[in-house]
Amino acid sequence: MKVNAGRLASKTALITGAAGGIGAETARRFAAEGARVVVSDRRDEGLAAFAATLPNALALKLDVTSEDDWIAATAFVRERCGRLDILVNNAGLVAPPAAIEARSVDDWDRVMAVNARGVFLGTKHAIPLMRAGGGGAIVNISSLAALGQSQIMDALYAASKGAVRIFTKVTAAQHAHEGIRCNSVHPGPIDSEMLRGVWSDPAKIERRLARIPMGRLGRAEEVAAAVLYLASDEAAYTTGVELAIDGGALVQ
Ligand SMILES: NC(=O)c1ccc[n+]([C@@H]2O[C@H](COP(=O)([O-])OP(=O)(O)OC[C@H]3O[C@@H](n4cnc5c(N)ncnc54)[C@H](O)[C@@H]3O)[C@@H](O)[C@H]2O)c1
Repeated sequence: MKVNAGRLASKTALITGAAGGIGAETARRFAAEGARVVVSDRRDEGLAAFAATLPNALALKLDVTSEDDWIAATAFVRERCGRLDILVNNAGLVAPPAAIEARSVDDWDRVMAVNARGVFLGTKHAIPLMRAGGGGAIVNISSLAALGQSQIMDALYAASKGAVRIFTKVTAAQHAHEGIRCNSVHPGPIDSEMLRGVWSDPAKIERRLARIPMGRLGRAEEVAAAVLYLASDEAAYTTGVELAIDGGALVQ
């Protein structure tokens, strides 16, 4: 009888911002598909306990804005796992929406540091490890905000996620020859701590849903399924694409 070893059997994956939301759901899904998963986050309360609930996981404190943290993280992965096949740049920060003229330089720098610099640093430090292992897959979590519905998106957040979108494509183009793929996932509004923090008012959620043809929020597991596909060998001929998980928002 054929044993199904899992879609990520024998792969090692590092996921950033994995303490909750989409990152935690992706970690659960990856672990269920046979991956060895390094769950990382800037917040480390509960992270080791979370990793212990997964079959083959390690916890790591990693602030994606810090290059020193990335150097330590890749050394940790090399030492403990011997290889890195998958990086999910998921950690993200969203400032509550505000008018552009109400924003400060500090606001801009804070959002860019996590959402854009974090992806750059993760990619920079993952590439040598992936190359040493003969290739890999990077999945960057961008946003619907990078693609459209701009009247209602926060400008700083959208700009940071737009940076992720094009950074993904350049990474894909420049590293395809060494077997490193890079794709971006663009969630619409997903029921998460982040979303509930920004839209605590149920009326705001209702107004947001009016722009989503499916008429509901997405679920973290629906994003995790897309990340799994792009991270797995099933997507072996797919690089540089942007996959929207948005309930049809872009076709409205
Ligand atoms: N929830 C949504 O509606 C939605 C929509 C589009 C895109 N996204 C993107 O999905 C990703 C995950 O978001 P989520 O919805 O699960 O939100 P979340 O707030 O539940 O998770 C984000 C995680 O990132 C971590 N984080 C923040 N700054 C960090 C840093 N400097 N270093 C390491 N970790 C850090 C947080 O501690 C948190 O655990 C983000 O990139 C977000 O922008 C979310």
